[in-house]
Amino acid sequence: MKLKVLVSRKVFEEVVALLGRQYDVESNQRDVPFTPAQLVKKLQGKSGAIVLLTDLIDDRVLAQCPDVKVVCNIAVGYNNIDVKAATRRGVMVCNTPGVLDDTTADFAWTLLLASARRVVEADAFFRSGKWKGWGLMQFTGCDVHHKTLGIIGLGRIGKGVARRAKGFDMRVIYTDAQRADETTEREHGVMFVDKRTLLRESDFVSLHIPLFPETRHYLSEPEFALMKKTAILINAARGPIVDEKALVKALKEGKIAGAGLDVYEREPKCERALLSMKQVVLAPHIASASVETRTKMAMMAAQNCIAGLSGQRPPHLVNPEVLGR
Ligand code: DGY
Repeated sequence: MKLKVLVSRKVFEEVVALLGRQYDVESNQRDVPFTPAQLVKKLQGKSGAIVLLTDLIDDRVLAQCPDVKVVCNIAVGYNNIDVKAATRRGVMVCNTPGVLDDTTADFAWTLLLASARRVVEADAFFRSGKWKGWGLMQFTGCDVHHKTLGIIGLGRIGKGVARRAKGFDMRVIYTDAQRADETTEREHGVMFVDKRTLLRESDFVSLHIPLFPETRHYLSEPEFALMKKTAILINAARGPIVDEKALVKALKEGKIAGAGLDVYEREPKCERALLSMKQVVLAPHIASASVETRTKMAMMAAQNCIAGLSGQRPPHLVNPEVLGR
């Protein structure tokens, strides 16, 4: 009898085909997430699960699906999975690091440039037929070149964002729980500063830290108060890292000038006020969304699943301690 695997949302055909060579695959070809109750029902009797950020895999779900041996998120972040509970229950949890770094760094830059140069606003203006000809004062944004970029979290994506800043002749400062070594700092042209200095000195603040309980609301009212009135915030990491209500307040009160957001506190919703703010660029969590990268991520998740179910160590296992149990 073949083992059973669930693919919880629509994915590329080659991913289902790869899994189908060895497993009995049930794939949700609708691009709509299962409700929690549906997810539990679908997972029962499955050994492997390929899931997305929209699937909450908590202790309650795992308790009702005791056959599940491996849960493979098609994402590098895995805040939708209760890893502690999974480990306690002997379930392997896997993610997809590495393959999306450049694509995500590209997109953080997309948001940065679009916000600074008011591209979305200008595009809407043009399409509305309101443009009556060139004007000196039209859509004047702010320069990016020679400004200061503050990177919060110098991991793989943060480094990618820093490397791209070289082409814009920027001063790049960063803060992180741990300072990088000298060679890394030199190679990436970055200077370590504390959080307050970064917030005070940056023209652009770009977030690249994971969401953990201790990074929730990493930026809130006191932090916005430190930032330059002309600063622009970029978030292509995780929504809850920013206190969204405090962000709205800071934008309304002119504590900061703008924001480029790809992620939100309560996806797929955001604070209503953001929707009418012209100084904010809003994207629907698409930073890693190139066909090439999303295909690599989904294939990586399938490979993690295959390894886990074949008794090998999955290449991207988040909770290796589960193996020693
Ligand atoms: C991730 O991988 O964590 C992203 O948010 C989705 O690409």
